[in-house]
Amino acid sequence: MNRLTIPRPDDWHLHLRDGDMLASVVVDTAAHFGRAIIMPNLVPPVITSVDALAYRSRILAALPAGSEFQPLMTLYLTETTVPDDVVAAAASGLISAVKLYPAGATTNSDSGVRDFDKVTPVLEAMAENGVPLCVHGEVTDPDIDIFDREAVFLEKVLDPLRQRIRGLRVVLEHVTTCDGLDYVRQGGDDIAATITTHHLFINRNHILAGGIRPHNFCLPVAKREVHRLALVAAATSDEAAFFLGTDSAPHVDAAKQSGCGCAGIYTAPNTMSCLAALFEGEGALDKLEGFVSRHGPAFYRLPVNAETITLIKRDTPIEFPDKCETPDGPVTIFDCGQPLYWEVETS
Ligand code: NCD
Ligand code: ZN
Repeated sequence: MNRLTIPRPDDWHLHLRDGDMLASVVVDTAAHFGRAIIMPNLVPPVITSVDALAYRSRILAALPAGSEFQPLMTLYLTETTVPDDVVAAAASGLISAVKLYPAGATTNSDSGVRDFDKVTPVLEAMAENGVPLCVHGEVTDPDIDIFDREAVFLEKVLDPLRQRIRGLRVVLEHVTTCDGLDYVRQGGDDIAATITTHHLFINRNHILAGGIRPHNFCLPVAKREVHRLALVAAATSDEAAFFLGTDSAPHVDAAKQSGCGCAGIYTAPNTMSCLAALFEGEGALDKLEGFVSRHGPAFYRLPVNAETITLIKRDTPIEFPDKCETPDGPVTIFDCGQPLYWEVETS
């Protein structure tokens, strides 16, 4: 098989940033994807519906002429988020979800949640109104090893929260462990998980063996190979609870190649080529459509995109640029470690 036509895919976890960076990166996502859940961790964060409306306008203004890409906005949950603002923003269609960052867990998460009791009223209102909560699932306790932070979060934070707030719809974002996959599989219809492109390709050796590779550093950090294999099995399984959220997270090279480098991997330009290669390698090209185009809309209760895209397998590897140039400096594009032959056909 060397051609694959599927409904236009969506990205259920994306960082577009703002200003010049937004203008430079949004084209890469809009070229292939119909919609994306837009992460709110700007500086300052997108906290209120007023912030989300303004950010949405800036994204739409940065799109290439004629693009029909739809940003699906989120609000950044803080301990002072007002339940009525969330419910009204969701009811009007302005936002599609609320994002929970445990304070200190990742890039620009300082305004996130420290005391979960303080957000109970807003989570209850979300459960009542079916508004999904996108969760960065890592504890921030300095005593917990960074490779264990996802598993501990499930047991100590997420499960108690879901027991307390019945009916809350949760997306465990960028799941990286067998523990996370098992938790989602046992969790019923109210929980799903996004899987990133990079976590399907890299394990922790790709960050640390043979020299430190800052462009493979992201949060949650990639785990052991056994976990990567479990993620590949889940992504290619056609289980409805698992769908693509690239977590494409651009940082300029200067910010990543530093004594204290930022977490985040930029995968928007080559994600579809990477995924086609991976699914083909697994003998699961027929499962790609579910993962990138169908399971996400089903969870978010949206229609599948009516348009299609076609992936074509070329005879020679596609030459992707190594970097995306931005006015702020170059951003390195993810290197999945193998030649890529599948290309999204552009008319
Ligand atoms: C993201 C970013 O840079 O905003 N970084 C990352 O490593 N994934 C934040 C996040 O999603 O954790
Ligand atoms: Zn992210």
